[in-house]
Amino acid sequence: MTDSSHLPDAAGAPALPAPRTTPENHAAPAAFTPELFGPEVMEDPMVLFERLRADPLQGQVARVTVMGLDAWLVLGWVENQAVLSTEYRFSRRLDQWTAWTEGRVPPQLHPLVAPQPMCAMLDGPPRHRLRQAVKDSLEPFEGRGIRRHVIRSAKALINTFCESGSTDLVAQFTRQLPMAVMTQVLGMPEAFGPRLLHAARDMHTGSATAQDSNEYLLDTFRDLIARKRRHPGADFTSWLIQHQAALTSRELEEHLRLVLVASTSTTEDLMADTLELLLTDERFRPSMRGATMTLGEAVQQALWNNPAFTLLIGRVATGDTELGGRHIRAGDLVIPCLAAANRDPAAREDITSSVDGNRSHHAFGQGVHRCPGESMAVTIVTQGIDTLYEEVGGVRLAVDGSELRRTSSILTYGLEGLPVTFNAREPIRVFVPRTAPARPAAAGAQGCPAGAHAGVPTGAPSAAAPSRPRHARDSGRDDLNAG
Ligand code: HEM
Repeated sequence: MTDSSHLPDAAGAPALPAPRTTPENHAAPAAFTPELFGPEVMEDPMVLFERLRADPLQGQVARVTVMGLDAWLVLGWVENQAVLSTEYRFSRRLDQWTAWTEGRVPPQLHPLVAPQPMCAMLDGPPRHRLRQAVKDSLEPFEGRGIRRHVIRSAKALINTFCESGSTDLVAQFTRQLPMAVMTQVLGMPEAFGPRLLHAARDMHTGSATAQDSNEYLLDTFRDLIARKRRHPGADFTSWLIQHQAALTSRELEEHLRLVLVASTSTTEDLMADTLELLLTDERFRPSMRGATMTLGEAVQQALWNNPAFTLLIGRVATGDTELGGRHIRAGDLVIPCLAAANRDPAAREDITSSVDGNRSHHAFGQGVHRCPGESMAVTIVTQGIDTLYEEVGGVRLAVDGSELRRTSSILTYGLEGLPVTFNAREPIRVFVPRTAPARPAAAGAQGCPAGAHAGVPTGAPSAAAPSRPRHARDSGRDDLNAG
């Protein structure tokens, strides 16, 4: 098999800006070299990114530190595209980072940097083998396959606050729904959700407990794999175990953790950002109810404005190279900053204007690692919001939009809360299956659980479980922009 990701894609590569007249190098002084775990990021990362971009000694590729270690922060849209879509120049093998090979990376960063046998941290054919297994095992949940889980979980959550007439949608809804759905996708009891949620968030923060959280997730998945080997079901875990790529136990654990961590806080933040737009932006508000196109546009606007991963740690330069006029050395850490790329004035003059169908944002990444959960995430968000608006009427923000606050960590910049009022009503009975039953492959998933705007009738029996996934094709390859 030829893996195209190793070949220079000169034809498809975006043009890079010409080098600066005085090229920067490692010895050149920079006026301001912020620490990504420092106060500026915690306060308002967007302000920091624009300050760096405007700094004549910095620009679209800025020098920063990560826990005291040198790195390049990539702010430009074009430069991010170049980094994300040229695996042969910018590798996901972070164990090639000079600081790692020299043993200088602090333990708090190890969960983000240490080599792991998973697609997200590999290049070339090993990446392809594992990624294909993940994509095949997620496929049955795409579109209608996931909607029934979303509708049920959303209704169950709405029941917990619908009588009060007011709630914080972040705490009670957007922060809960993706985890509730993903535990079902993975074939776990929903009761695992809250602890998993905490561990998955903590793992990202570089906190003193990040490693413990990481271990907790891996232990949980070890147990789950053992259970699914004994009792397979119609779920992602069972299909990943059965996949012809024959993942080892370690690979299985790592990919369950990857999917859970990559899918939950990201989808939560996207749902909250979309709701914020619907509740505060006049362009979306009047026609929101039942207007799928408008909801879809709000999702895209939210993806442009506040991508759930503010930045990615990261890539390592495979050889000496040039990026945005900077001289990058082999072994340097390069950090794509998706939030800054999406706000790059060179790509988007006015960030308040409508994106109007333009989907060229970097929120889901680009290239061979582009998010394989994009359609699932968008379905959870749109179906979750649809269900909310169908179930409770008169949803309004309870505070002025300017009072909404965001919590920033190195990777995320999500809304802290979204207090709303609405028309109170009685809870309804919601049928929530413990786990989807195992089904033979031939049974398929041809039933129609629910359309975009059709709620599952209260007390309805479980809709058809998703069918078994197609298995990996022996000689398949990831399309560069495949989702
Ligand atoms: C709004 C929601 C989401 C956003 C913004 C998002 C964003 C991203 C981004 C930017 C990457 C690329 C990372 C890189 O290039 O280093 C990625 C990778 C990934 N995402 Fe998502 N994601 C979301 C939801 C999901 C969901 C729902 C799933 C699974 C159900 C998922 C599974 C993955 C996996 C497995 C990878 C690693 C792919 C690889 O490295 O080959 N994500 N995601």
